[in-house]
Amino acid sequence: MEAGVRQNESKSYRCLCYFTNNIYLRQYGVHVSYANESQFWNDYGQVLLQRGCDTQAKRLEVNKEIQAEVKRRRNFGRESVQRRETIHKLYKPLYPDIFTLQDKWLDPAFVELASYSRREDATVEGLLSKVTTETGERVYSFPVFTLEFCQRFIELIEDFENSPCPKGRPNTMNQYGVLLDELGFDEDFLKPLREHYLQPISRLLFPDWGGENLDSHKAFIVQYKLSEDTDLSYHYDNAEVTLNVCLGADFSSGNLYFGKMRNSGTDSSSQLTECEHSPGCGILHRGQHRHGAQPIRSGERYNLIVWMRCAQLRNERCPMCDMTPDLVEVEGPGDGFSDPQGNYEEQRTVQVCQLT
Ligand SMILES: [Fe+2]
Ligand SMILES: [Zn+2]
Repeated sequence: MEAGVRQNESKSYRCLCYFTNNIYLRQYGVHVSYANESQFWNDYGQVLLQRGCDTQAKRLEVNKEIQAEVKRRRNFGRESVQRRETIHKLYKPLYPDIFTLQDKWLDPAFVELASYSRREDATVEGLLSKVTTETGERVYSFPVFTLEFCQRFIELIEDFENSPCPKGRPNTMNQYGVLLDELGFDEDFLKPLREHYLQPISRLLFPDWGGENLDSHKAFIVQYKLSEDTDLSYHYDNAEVTLNVCLGADFSSGNLYFGKMRNSGTDSSSQLTECEHSPGCGILHRGQHRHGAQPIRSGERYNLIVWMRCAQLRNERCPMCDMTPDLVEVEGPGDGFSDPQGNYEEQRTVQVCQLT
């Protein structure tokens, strides 16, 4: 028997709202909740009409789109586990060495930032003197990866995209991109990146957002191209703290912009602040800080997104529905909630044998 896909033995949970809330209707640029058809048209009929959904055929199209998305979410866990296994069997990575995090892939300034943050005598002021504070409130940027790493990462993603392997998509807002746990980046790359680098930094910058205890993540690559997704509508993330790293490649425009925190009223476009985002550079922000990406004008752009979660916080209040989460156990990756019985700390990783 051959060693196969490493699977996390701990149970995964999602809040029930995952199956009904925050469904993005791309054509109309709105997020909606869907419990049933009559609730849906009562709540959103007017706004959809204003945005051009003015015929029975268009309304039927919307119904179909929502039903397909709900179905995708219901099947996501099982399909994700299957995809991960198939990818592990079939995909021969172009650069196997980038699946393990090594200091040589990291910008020396980032290594220094994290090692400073791990010191017992580290202070917020000390850390802030080493990062760029963007104009958006509590939005920070700093170099993360070397350009050589970014280039290899993009080449690997493109190679994977061109392979016959099955691909899951990051979320309803990004139709193009790659889920990194399915590709095998979680255990030896993203987990150490979170634990040894991002958490110490977040502990100082976001203590009020679980920065000390970011115990899981969801990571994906988003891709913007003129012929595909060119921008990303204004939204918040299913995360306590988000890292967004620009990987390249050749593009113009496409900056990130930030507005107000979620639940703090609507913002006018004059209140939005933009951040320059150059290859290798990461932007760290609160997941509930609303943001979007300007359309790219030419070329293509890849970003690595890491949504970091703190089970302790989200078990109290789900960041997507603002309620005490109604947890259900799911197959495959969950949304960072812990076992309601509190066994989360015992999570461990085991080798599962591959059936050959
Ligand atoms: Fe986001
Ligand atoms: Zn919820």
